[in-house]
Amino acid sequence: MSEQVEINKDLKKYLQELGYRKDTLVDELVSETKTLGNVARMQIAKEQGQFLEIIVKISNAKSCLEIGRFTGLSTLYMARGLPKDGQIVTVDTTDEFLPIAKKYWDKDDQSSKIKSIIGAGTEVMQSFIDRQYQFDIIFIDADKNNYPNYYELALSLVPSNGIIIIDNMLWHGDVADSSKSDSQTQTIRDLNLKIRDDKRVDFSLNPLSDGLLLIRKK
Ligand SMILES: C[S@@+](CC[C@H](N)C(=O)[O-])C[C@H]1O[C@@H](n2cnc3c(N)ncnc32)[C@H](O)[C@@H]1O
Repeated sequence: MSEQVEINKDLKKYLQELGYRKDTLVDELVSETKTLGNVARMQIAKEQGQFLEIIVKISNAKSCLEIGRFTGLSTLYMARGLPKDGQIVTVDTTDEFLPIAKKYWDKDDQSSKIKSIIGAGTEVMQSFIDRQYQFDIIFIDADKNNYPNYYELALSLVPSNGIIIIDNMLWHGDVADSSKSDSQTQTIRDLNLKIRDDKRVDFSLNPLSDGLLLIRKK
């Protein structure tokens, strides 16, 4: 059986160079986000963005929901994957970084597909459930302690064959470090275990950047 290759420093660099097709607009957004300082760590990796775009394309999705927008890189990639009449709703508790996101969505001519909501992820998701909305794909990349709630809410918001993608499921490797027992690490560990054993879904845990968990509702 083939084994998971160890992602050492050299391989990480290789993945960043060969796993990403150069894109000037994306590079500009990443550079501008870096000027914000420490918070820039929240941005998804460019390789993950490409992955999101492909999943949106191959699933022929027309509607997406994102929890956790920040400066809008993941939103941009998912919007690119959508057809002209597709829509992505993106939710974040703060509008602090929205002007940066909007600048790049506009530059890439994606803004007509993007609806931004300022609010708490769980409340917005519950309000969509109450109004019987459904989404083809839901991407979760917000506060980790709410991940179990987002997962259950997302299961109510996608149809059979719908897709849920969750970022940070390897949590900087801490999930496998027994010396780490903080609540965020434990929440992610518990959720990985729950989803592995959850007969309602198919799943694939991918070690792309900080770990992307791809889930299909049966
Ligand atoms: C990891 S960042 C998202 C990164 C983004 N996907 C990207 O590609 O740049 C997490 C975001 O979740 C937002 N957030 C935190 N708690 C939230 C909540 N309860 N509901 C919605 N968004 C929340 C934060 O404000 C932050 O912008």
